Amino acid sequence: MNVTAKPLKGLKGEIKIPGDKSISHRAAMIGSISNGITVARNFLMGEDCLCTVKAMQSMGIDIEVDRSKVTIYGKGLKGLEAPKEDIYLGNSGTSMRLMAGILAGQNFSSVLTGDNSLSKRPMKRIVDPLKKMGANIRTRGSDFYAPIKIQGGKLKAISYRTPVASAQVKSCILLAGLYAEGTTQVVEPYISRDHTERMLSFFGAEVKRDGLTAAVSPGRDLRSKEFYVPSDISSAAFFIVLALITRDSEIFMRSVGMNPTRSKILDVLTRMGGSITVKRNNDEGLEPTCELKVKSSGLKATVIKREEIAQLIDEIPIICVAASRAEGVTAIKGVEELRVKETDRIHSIVDNLSRMGVDIKAAGNDLVINGSKKDLNACMLESYGDHRTAMSMAVASGVAKAECKIKDVDCVDTSFPGFFETLKGLG
Ligand code: S3P
Repeated sequence: MNVTAKPLKGLKGEIKIPGDKSISHRAAMIGSISNGITVARNFLMGEDCLCTVKAMQSMGIDIEVDRSKVTIYGKGLKGLEAPKEDIYLGNSGTSMRLMAGILAGQNFSSVLTGDNSLSKRPMKRIVDPLKKMGANIRTRGSDFYAPIKIQGGKLKAISYRTPVASAQVKSCILLAGLYAEGTTQVVEPYISRDHTERMLSFFGAEVKRDGLTAAVSPGRDLRSKEFYVPSDISSAAFFIVLALITRDSEIFMRSVGMNPTRSKILDVLTRMGGSITVKRNNDEGLEPTCELKVKSSGLKATVIKREEIAQLIDEIPIICVAASRAEGVTAIKGVEELRVKETDRIHSIVDNLSRMGVDIKAAGNDLVINGSKKDLNACMLESYGDHRTAMSMAVASGVAKAECKIKDVDCVDTSFPGFFETLKGLG
């Protein structure tokens, strides 16, 4: 599907952001290997998370989906059954990398497959540590691509320094650690999102954290839980930037995830001069949340350091849109991980924003954007089959001189079903 996106102004109102993608994946996986009935409300009904649900169902777990309420009848750490067919995980890197950790510890073999994009994403980063734990894994070609064939079996604990700051890699190793003999420890170069550590602790696992180190010890059963999945701050980011750069706008969002390893986007936009009021909710339990009020603001450039990137990895495309409207030169350092996302996001963003007349370039592993207040050129934009590129371009179109066409936007369903309806509802 293609869409025509019109210039916008005066956006007002409250919007509902769907549940957090990372937390929904973990709810489906960890709920399945816990004992008892897990209920996750506000679960993200996006394609990626539904792939995780189907995968766990194919291994004998009963999961009921009733709108955004998901009920998982967990069977314990060793309760999964061998799947009858290969497990298809669509576009979802999180499903593949995290599930590989769980499957390495089972007593059956399984094969994980994905769509074209997922089949080109690097898996060496999880295969190396899993092999060190004793896992028997085969991938395609010398580049370690999916399909991934896993012959589950006995695992031993490792202490592992990850070369990339990646929550998917860290989570894969920690989940495998639930099945290993001894304490498994992961040390990251920079802090990445910590939803796995939080959820495992919440379910009763023995998890220890100290700075850049996370460790899990086996031996405790996981106990099922009931919880509300916060709205995804990475999805909220599109509307936050939209309200900041669109004239006469003020929007409000509730129950947005405020995990400190994810909220760096708010720090960055605030230091760019964005008017964002954050009211923390009194949450107990799984994850902190907040209410957000965002108003149109004049933005100024900033420098985003390499050590901040892992904490806003999914927001870089939309930060580039904000930077294109900010006064001065924004530099975003060390973004090489964007090359191996659902598409090469350095290419997709530089290409699209350049078409709109933005002065943006990739300089080695950095992005450099020379912002301007001028309206952007109206043109044809491409999603590259990537949800975050598509949504970033929809936001950029709001400040174009005239209508833009965005090609191939069905991919937004990966993480934000209803994105275009929410946008229409505002203006
Ligand atoms: C995710 C981690 C990030 C992020 C992805 C979701 C997760 O990937 O880009 O959308 O749920 O753990 P990396 O940790 O590989 O950077």
